[in-house]
Amino acid sequence: MHSLWYYELYETVFSRPSSVYAKEIDIISNYAKVDGSDILEIGVGTGNHASALLKLQPKLLDAIDMDSKAISISFSKLGSIPNVSFFVGDGFSFSYPRSYDLVYIMYSVISQGVFCFKEFGNRIAILLRLLKNADASIIFEILDKTQCMKRYPTGIITELYRDSNQTVSVQWDYPPNWIVVKYLHTDSEKEFSRYTVKILDINIDELGEFLSLMQIGIRVVPLDTSGRRKLVVIRHL
Ligand SMILES: C[S@@+](CC[C@H](N)C(=O)[O-])C[C@H]1O[C@@H](n2cnc3c(N)ncnc32)[C@H](O)[C@@H]1O
Repeated sequence: MHSLWYYELYETVFSRPSSVYAKEIDIISNYAKVDGSDILEIGVGTGNHASALLKLQPKLLDAIDMDSKAISISFSKLGSIPNVSFFVGDGFSFSYPRSYDLVYIMYSVISQGVFCFKEFGNRIAILLRLLKNADASIIFEILDKTQCMKRYPTGIITELYRDSNQTVSVQWDYPPNWIVVKYLHTDSEKEFSRYTVKILDINIDELGEFLSLMQIGIRVVPLDTSGRRKLVVIRHL
């Protein structure tokens, strides 16, 4: 479970009017049909991508998060919309009630909580079984380690959120095979909490070879101008 500040961060910083959620959902909709589709979001968090997606009128949206706090925030925003359902659990082992036209996973959630490419491949295989048919797609975000290192070198500390007396500082680190992001929540006097996320560095060529064995095609498109965040679109060939 995350501390509440983590979700406040998403609400106060990332859901500003200038935020990129709607733009990112637009990019997704260039690669998969959203209108009239059955869609699953894994790692819905506070529901900002979901609310942008719902404006494009999917037939239904199922949304899951392993953190019940995130689900209650999302539910308070979107729970009254027909054909939207929320689940609490691990998105990669949950028994979903149906199959989908599109499964999407943002913020590198797909490469967190796995320790090697084999485990990551198992996740992909599980997700492929959730697809309705050969036209359905999985779209997920990964981080490009080389571009991350350029933009946020090891040791640099960026401040993501500062109100009158609180700060969330973010520090990046790059051990072999990993991108590590450390969040530290402090005020001027004391530290409130820390949260470290370990993101597996995904090699796109290795992923492409793995998918081609299963007759699955892959396309990688930039999600931001720096090339640090990438969207991977996979579907049957
Ligand atoms: C950065 S937030 C997502 C933000 C979200 N797209 C939005 O629009 O607000 C990432 C979320 O993924 C969730 N998460 C991480 N691993 C997960 C997993 N294996 N299954 C379900 N949820 C997961 C975390 O609990 C967190 O709430």
